[in-house]
Amino acid sequence: MAGTAVAPYDAGPFLPRRGGLEAHRKAAAGCRGCPLWEGTTGTVFGAGDPGARLVLVGEQPGDQEDRRGEPFVGPAGRLLRRAAAEAGLDLAECYVTNAVKHFKYTVAAGGKRRIHKQPTLRELTACRPWLDAELSLVGPELVVALGATAGKALWGPDFRLADRRGAVVELALPGDGGVRHGLATLHPSAVLRSNDREAAYAGLVADLTVAHRHLG
Ligand code: URA
Repeated sequence: MAGTAVAPYDAGPFLPRRGGLEAHRKAAAGCRGCPLWEGTTGTVFGAGDPGARLVLVGEQPGDQEDRRGEPFVGPAGRLLRRAAAEAGLDLAECYVTNAVKHFKYTVAAGGKRRIHKQPTLRELTACRPWLDAELSLVGPELVVALGATAGKALWGPDFRLADRRGAVVELALPGDGGVRHGLATLHPSAVLRSNDREAAYAGLVADLTVAHRHLG
C-alpha cells in the first residue's frame, strides 16, 4: 500500500550510550531491534576474555545456546573447541560471539524440535551494532569469521567464503578500533553436515592454524 512505512530493523537504539561489555550484555537482553527475540529464551551475547587478542564470530545461537544463554555450547561449539585446540588455540583465552544474537528457527512437524533457520541480510544488518560494540570494546588483533554469514557481517553482503577462506586480510574495526586483521573459515556446523567430515574438519584446523601463527 502506498505510504505504508516499513518499521526498520535496528538494534542501534537499544545500545547503551556508555559502559563496557557487561553494560552491553545487560542492554542486549532487552533488545527488540528485530522480531527474532520472539519465541526465544533470550539474547545470547558474546562470552570470553574481554581483552582477547582473538575474537571468533559465528552465525547465530543454536537450540542449546538459546537454552543456556551462551554461544557455542552445543555440538558445533564442541567441534570448534577441539579444532581450535588442535590448531594451538585455547578458546578460554578468546572472545566468542555471533553475528546475530537470537536463535532463528522453525518448528519441525510434530511441534517439538526447533530447526535452525538462516538469518536474512536485514536481520544481520539490524544486529550489527552489537557486534560492532563487542569488536570495538574487545579490540582484538584478529577476528575469525566462522562461515559466510559472519563473513557478510564483517565484510559486507558481497562476501563469498570460497574467495576469502583461510587468508589473513586487513579488517577495519568499528569506531576508532583501527585496522586489524580478519580471517574467514568454515562454520563448525558446516563441518558437521559435510559429506566428507574428515576433510572439512582438517580444513577448519588448517585455517585456525593460520590464525594461531598470525598471533605468533
Ligand atoms: N552456531 C553458531 O553460529 N553459533 C553458536 O553459538 C552455535 C552454533
